[in-house]
Amino acid sequence: QDKTLPPTRSIKKRLEQTGKSCVIFYGSQTGTAEKFALRLAKEANTRYDLRSMVTDLDDFDFDDLNTLKSGQIAIFILATYGEGEPTDNAMAFNQFLKGKTRRASLQPAEQIAMQLRYAAFGLGNSSYQFYNSMIRQTDRTLQSAGAIRIGDLGLGDDGKGTLEDDFVEWKDTTLAAIAQHFHLPKLEYTFKPNFEVTESDIAQTSDVFLGEPNKSHLRNKIRGPFTPQNPFPATIVKAEELFNSNDRNCVHIEFDIGGTTLTYDTGDHLAVWPVNSDMEVDRFLRVFGLYERKSVVVDIISHDLTVKVPIPAKTTYEAAARYYLDIGAPLSRHILGVLASFAKSESIRSKLVRLSSEREVFQREVEDKRLNLAQTLSTIAPHGSFESVPFSFILENVAKLQPRYYSISSSSLLSKNRISITAVVDSVKSSTGQLDFKGVNTNYLLALKFNCLPAPSDAPADALRSVPAAPHTHKINGPRGLFSQPTALIHVRRSKFRLPRQPSTPVIMIGPGTGVAPFRAFVQERAMQSRAGREVGRTILFYGCRKSDEDFLYKAEWQEYAKSFSNGIFSLHSAFSREQEDKRVYVQDLVLDHAAELSDLVLRRNAQVYVCGDASRMAKDIFRTFAHIINDDCEKNFNETGDSYLRSMKAGGRWSEDVW
Ligand code: FAD
Ligand code: 2AM
Repeated sequence: QDKTLPPTRSIKKRLEQTGKSCVIFYGSQTGTAEKFALRLAKEANTRYDLRSMVTDLDDFDFDDLNTLKSGQIAIFILATYGEGEPTDNAMAFNQFLKGKTRRASLQPAEQIAMQLRYAAFGLGNSSYQFYNSMIRQTDRTLQSAGAIRIGDLGLGDDGKGTLEDDFVEWKDTTLAAIAQHFHLPKLEYTFKPNFEVTESDIAQTSDVFLGEPNKSHLRNKIRGPFTPQNPFPATIVKAEELFNSNDRNCVHIEFDIGGTTLTYDTGDHLAVWPVNSDMEVDRFLRVFGLYERKSVVVDIISHDLTVKVPIPAKTTYEAAARYYLDIGAPLSRHILGVLASFAKSESIRSKLVRLSSEREVFQREVEDKRLNLAQTLSTIAPHGSFESVPFSFILENVAKLQPRYYSISSSSLLSKNRISITAVVDSVKSSTGQLDFKGVNTNYLLALKFNCLPAPSDAPADALRSVPAAPHTHKINGPRGLFSQPTALIHVRRSKFRLPRQPSTPVIMIGPGTGVAPFRAFVQERAMQSRAGREVGRTILFYGCRKSDEDFLYKAEWQEYAKSFSNGIFSLHSAFSREQEDKRVYVQDLVLDHAAELSDLVLRRNAQVYVCGDASRMAKDIFRTFAHIINDDCEKNFNETGDSYLRSMKAGGRWSEDVW
């Protein structure tokens, strides 16, 4: 039997080739929308016999959507990203919705008379202005073209922390509505694996993936372009702790990209591909009874040609857990519910059912303690309880490990061959000290800094520090020892966070904590332009940290940069939140202190404003504070409120945010 489907960009053809009646398109940035799409397909297939396939929005054209037959349906699961933007893989679809297609063959959505049946769920965050705008726009455009929506428009809200619950509610009611519409019977649930996993006795050979992201890496033919599918194994040439106080530390890491085709621009993001820690890999393998067989080579074949094998294969159980699966991720109640069917005893089964069905219990026992899958299972069931879980179940329910993004803290003009990032290490001590939470990538970077393997996640920070700076241990990037120095897989993501073209344009930057990262590069660049005799406009940086002698990032560097500017051009205003007893001082307090100058720069001198760092509170507080300080002047002289003035600034690109 042919193992691949003939290539086509026509979704109609693909449905015909595969005998499916439902296509689920996902628009995903960090993998959540994709995960939901896969879950939905699994349920549609097993609970209702609605034969479904899942696909990346980028994989098909959209102009034959209207030709789907009456018994067929398209489901859209689309995340909205940042300031109401589509995810990277939904860019073309977004253009299509807006009627701006570049390809002649692709008609704009509104010109297509749609007879399409569709359902739609969006992933968004209500604390952003353009909440769920991608799915709303999709729904509006499809409706106005005559398409018929089945079920309600689902709006998942990450801002309220109810994304999972919103999805479950929408999924259950929408699947029932689709089943009713198409007269589909409800089936009894049994787990049917998507993948056939075969173990073989062969030794690990050169065609077994042990951390490599693709075949070129496997063959040691690593060449650009470097993309999310083909990241670059960059050597770490500098790694230092910028501060290390009681409960927190922050690392500065520099990657060498000299002699490669990898380039970046000041303000871009660097994606770093993490590796799970030894401790978590071991725990995961033990919980599922795979530890003894961890080095066995497994081949993974999909039973359904529309379902992609999610990780490179052949591989080993250990490599899957270490490099390819997000074994440390937040846990969903859903997976515990499904795992209940594999429990060996009634008592374990009922514990799992309780955790999955009672929200408060789950929150108290799992969420609040930030336990991952294996940590949760190992606390509620004795060793060996989950040995019968098929590996296909794990592949279907544990997401792929995703890269983490960082605002690049170096300037491409000054440091073309080295990219630096500034990352605060994400660690939280548990009350018992047993299951500390350790952010996957930042602890991996910390371990790389110590030039050793990812540290055991339960190791106290002091033990980690005592690890000798060993010569490169090849396990860092795959047991073949391809690299002679610590390396990490990276790629660059372009951003719109850019300095103004004219250095004479004034800039106001607000970046507390690691939000200062891109501003290090911005200030470096303006300082260089000033040294070169260019006319550089007013350059103001508002920075915030806890204490001037505790977590002040790049403290000495700012003084050096200041020397390059002419008198009165550069100012660094620092808010030290924990240096006074009575009140915490934040960057917005300093903005208030400098209201007159800032107002003048924004309203009359065409200043560009940049905000970087915390999205949930800081960015909003800063926006409100600026709206407040310019409000009177705006109402009097521009006949609008400060808030609406800033919104137009945002729309026109004069107010830019790089927040997370
Ligand atoms: P992860 O393991 O991914 O954990 C991160 C958070 O997820 C945890 O704090 C927790 O809230 C939650 N979480 C994870 N696992 C669990 C669990 N099992 N249970 C419950 N909750 C869990 N960071 C910087 O330090 N500097 C930057 O310059 C920077 N720039 C960024 C730019 C962009 C555009 C974006 C999107 C993010 C940026 N970040 C930056 C954040 C960065 O990408 C990472 O999120 C951060 O470093 C943590 O990664 P990690 O793998 O260590 O933590
Ligand atoms: P805190 O932790 O003492 O409350 C970098 O994290 C700095 O940002 C810290 O000094 C932190 O103060 C401060 N910070 C916390 N919340 C903030 C907010 N809403 N706006 C601005 N800065 C904030």
